[in-house]
Amino acid sequence: MEKIILVTGGAGFIGSHLVRRFVNRYPDYSIVNLDKLTYAGNLLNLKDIEQKKNYSFIKGDITDSAFIDELFGRYCFDAVIHLAAESHVDRSIDGPMPFINTNITGTVNLLNAARSRWTGIQEDKLFLHISTDEVYGSLGDRGLFTEETAYDPRSPYSASKASSDHMVMAWHHTYKLPVIISNCSNNYGPNQFPEKLIPLVINNIRANRNIPVYGKGENIRDWIYVEDHAAAIDVIFHKGKTGETYNVGGNNEWRNIDLVKLICTITDKKLGRKPGSSEKLITFVKDRAGHDLRYAIDNSKITGKLGWKPSVSFEKGLEKTVNWYLENDRWMQGVLTGDYKSYYRKQYLDR
Ligand code: NAD
Ligand code: TYD
Repeated sequence: MEKIILVTGGAGFIGSHLVRRFVNRYPDYSIVNLDKLTYAGNLLNLKDIEQKKNYSFIKGDITDSAFIDELFGRYCFDAVIHLAAESHVDRSIDGPMPFINTNITGTVNLLNAARSRWTGIQEDKLFLHISTDEVYGSLGDRGLFTEETAYDPRSPYSASKASSDHMVMAWHHTYKLPVIISNCSNNYGPNQFPEKLIPLVINNIRANRNIPVYGKGENIRDWIYVEDHAAAIDVIFHKGKTGETYNVGGNNEWRNIDLVKLICTITDKKLGRKPGSSEKLITFVKDRAGHDLRYAIDNSKITGKLGWKPSVSFEKGLEKTVNWYLENDRWMQGVLTGDYKSYYRKQYLDR
């Protein structure tokens, strides 16, 4: 069936994998990728599909309500898959306002535009909001986040995402907007901006630079390969039930320090370095303020009801990821310019 789908944030990490998947798998869908191209957005991420007939890119800001309204008037979108966001916890600690503006106000602008354009024709429309497991707060040693876990966000990033989730559900209950929310665990893979742990570690090993591990490295994250997340969004988009939320996770918990050591081992091997040489770069640094101890997802709802499950083992996924960063020097050098240098200095060197 033909559809016009607005994907927001499609030039970022997860968004670019999602756009590629939809453009290649669904030639009847027209994918309109709206992205502001902040420091995290990068059109190189989609170089391979930019000429496809069912793909178009629009540069724009979701916080600009007049522009969003005009865009919804220009295209009769059948669906929105909303990924655009400020996404990095450390940046949210340093400066929360862009998170409030983009993640909350930007989301409400999209909800308002969808509501006004879809009035009376809501059947077969869908607003799919991509969110995070961080809205649930921090787990102790045991337990998993389910769709029933109470929201308890603890960083400006997670609070802004939790707020946007509440807005999405409010538009559903109050205005009957057809919405679904997915809450996913930590993604890894190609094209992730190297401010996040895994690409930062690979890049620092390559450059023989210290590997900063916050606190004692005991915090735990549940990692999922980005293409598995894109596949989950695909399944939720096509089979999910309106008004529901779905947790997405890899059943793959790692303590940060163990993960960093594993990346050292894989990367040393790829670079032909002596085993153990990169572990010497590990440096324990001041902990992140309010650092959540553990995230872990119970994904039984999506696996049981929609038939999705993660397909990439961590061993394979990490190896592919390390290879990608080492082999894509042009991409890496492109993002290691102005903004990254000043961010890195402020975050790690001037403290
Ligand atoms: P990212 O930072 O790599 O990409 C975000 C994209 O949004 C960028 O291309 C950026 O240019 C764009 N953007 C930012 N502000 C915008 C604005 N005002 N208007 C238009 N575009 C704007 O983020 P990501 O890691 O790909 O995450 C995508 C989504 O998935 C986010 O909503 C995030 O909260 C969610 N999520 C991420 C993870 C993760 O591990 N990365 C896990 C779960 C959920
Ligand atoms: P990150 O990739 O920023 O994702 P999130 O905070 O959304 O989980 O961080 C993953 C984990 O790695 C988190 O516990 C913080 C930790 N971390 C470090 O120890 N050092 C670093 O330099 C970074 C960026 C993260």
